[in-house]
Amino acid sequence: MGSIKTNRDLISASLGLYLTSPWQMLYHNFISMKTRKFVYRCSSCGHEEPKWLGRCPECGEWNTLVETAAAPPPGTKGGRREAKPMPQTWPLASVESKEGGRISSGIAELDRVLGGGIMRRGAVLVGGEPGIGKSTLLLQAAAAAKIKSRVLYVSGEESAGQIKLRADRLGLEETGNIERIEVICTGNLADIETALNAVKPSLVMVDSAQTLFSADAGSVPGTVSQMKFCSFELVSWVKEHDAALFLVAHVTKEGLIAGPKTLEHLVDTVLYFEQNDKTAGLSEGRDCRFLRASKNRFGSVDEIGIFTMGDKGLVPVEDTGTLFLVRREGEVPAGVATAAVLEGSRTILVEIQALTIPAKGAVSRVFADKIDSGRVSRVAASLEKHLGLRLSDQDLYINVAGGIRITEVGVELALAFALYSARTGLALPAGLAISGELSLTGELRPVSRLAGRIKTARGLGFPVFLGPQDGQPQENGENAGLKAASDIKTAVGLIYA
Ligand code: TYD
Ligand code: MG
Repeated sequence: MGSIKTNRDLISASLGLYLTSPWQMLYHNFISMKTRKFVYRCSSCGHEEPKWLGRCPECGEWNTLVETAAAPPPGTKGGRREAKPMPQTWPLASVESKEGGRISSGIAELDRVLGGGIMRRGAVLVGGEPGIGKSTLLLQAAAAAKIKSRVLYVSGEESAGQIKLRADRLGLEETGNIERIEVICTGNLADIETALNAVKPSLVMVDSAQTLFSADAGSVPGTVSQMKFCSFELVSWVKEHDAALFLVAHVTKEGLIAGPKTLEHLVDTVLYFEQNDKTAGLSEGRDCRFLRASKNRFGSVDEIGIFTMGDKGLVPVEDTGTLFLVRREGEVPAGVATAAVLEGSRTILVEIQALTIPAKGAVSRVFADKIDSGRVSRVAASLEKHLGLRLSDQDLYINVAGGIRITEVGVELALAFALYSARTGLALPAGLAISGELSLTGELRPVSRLAGRIKTARGLGFPVFLGPQDGQPQENGENAGLKAASDIKTAVGLIYA
């Protein structure tokens, strides 16, 4: 080593020292640890961890982490970075917008929830508990859809004989479309792909995602990563082949890990099928099944489809206006108020029933599963504050006739009146429908499409309407019958004057 004269000499001297010292070995150990070729992968969900753990932090399964060769980091070959061609980018302004085009499913309620029909190259996930009617809906849509080409019905759940039995029960022969439905009973992705390429369907029904498996997915059959892998392949197939996919996923009892939630990001639309509470007081004793969108790239998520299950499968309910009312002669009992709420594009009238009894415990409780209990507490607090009506020492029970879940904010005023009526024992007059949002300050806020709600209510035999002030003259044609109030105190005065 020569003499050190400049800074540069100093740097090269210390570098030489470093490379020949034991530090070098330590450094190399550190690097090789960082680029180690093994990871611990969960055999249930595919999650990876750098070190072994007894329980997978992702899915919570025990003893599922297995030492596995790690995939090389993307874009590297043998540890070195690969030179990659520049990926294609597009100036957005020059891209032609492409509407996939919609196909009618032939079932009006299903089309409504989808946002106007089935989108070509779209994938729809249909979730729900076993027995709710997912397979029935898919088979009915397979025969009813307004398409000329074929439908592939994939079932890993039922045999071809069972599917035919259901088709007979549904009377699909009469539609004249049963010829176009091709059935394959397997969950094996390779077989399904072969069938897809042979049949070239424009509608693909898969029942269910949980039965799909593929040797290429690289983990134990029946796991979440298998389900995700296979579903992704099917979604890609329909996108490339101008078809549309319906994929069933059961909501499992163990929770949501292995259920539809894990597939939601793969698809364009997520529909959930749910049933009303059979114990809720039903109009005409009908059982109702609600189809709701929880994600929709091609439409709104406000619409609901309402069906009943009959001898011949799912029947859309069109006259939904009074479905959630209890028919009774004469006086309305105390604790009952009729709300005019919006469900997507239609107004429905629902009976809100309230019961208040002195609290059994030290803390008062809210029992409401069809209206958010936070909302019930808020409305009760507002009543207590602004009307001096004591509710904080009461247990509050809220029920919605027909068992429909109400999320629309316009229900709040009717909820307030149901609670007020239950607590005071003063029944509301018959023929009164109510809409409005109640703020914490006791003011009534405007609701959307008030005139439409008033019109629907009038048509269904509710000539008097209580709502927020609208800015419109009250006695004009549209708002006839509207009693408008600016706050809850005035509203109570208007009704119980
Ligand atoms: P299904 O569609 O098999 O439910 P899922 O696929 O969601 O598990 O059927 C649901 C229930 O509906 C089942 O208990 C049988 C009943 N059902 C009828 O009442 N009428 C019918 O016409 C059909 C086909 C089924
Ligand atoms: Mg089924």
